[in-house]
Amino acid sequence: MPLILATRNGHKLREFRRLLSVTELEPLPETVELPPETGETFVENALDKARAAAAETGRAAIADDSGIAADALGGRPGVRSARYAGEEASDEENLALLIEDVPPGSGLHYVCALVYVDPASGEERVFERRCDGVMSASRRGSGGFGYDPVFVPVDDVSGRTMAELSAAEKDAISHRGRALRAFEEWFTAER
Ligand code: IMP
Repeated sequence: MPLILATRNGHKLREFRRLLSVTELEPLPETVELPPETGETFVENALDKARAAAAETGRAAIADDSGIAADALGGRPGVRSARYAGEEASDEENLALLIEDVPPGSGLHYVCALVYVDPASGEERVFERRCDGVMSASRRGSGGFGYDPVFVPVDDVSGRTMAELSAAEKDAISHRGRALRAFEEWFTAER
């Protein structure tokens, strides 16, 4: 039985389908209302979404929440990454503000919490993974999205930003790739 992916973001559904091979994913039915992201942690937000989808559909669901934490900002913007420059801010506006606020060379961390909720058994599983990096001195590259043009991942020795990596190179080290692989490993062993 395919899992429900609790998101209204079509881009996310395509990305998850590309990265997940152990199970099929179904979009969230139109009738299900997702709760607003009001949690203080990525895990809370992801659990709120997956629980809502599982309760409404009676089916096992997964959901994720992700963002970026800057050492120079004491971990902000964190769960507010999509709204850093304002409630309706674009990726471009959020990126411009991070460049203003964060000094080059300081630590950045992408975090992704992926959760699984099964309403039949009551089982809930959390897979939180991160990708560490540093703030670039300038914005570089056109791949990826969001904060990728200034995020230099420490796991890639070339010094390129996330936006300069191929999709496969990003998937191999990204917070989302890691969380999805951890989920896949558990899900495969479970079945
Ligand atoms: P959400 O998980 O869709 O709520 O994403 C939260 C926000 O975190 C996005 O709007 C981006 O600003 C940021 N973000 C999360 N993952 C990435 C990534 O892989 N690259 C760049 N920005 C990201």
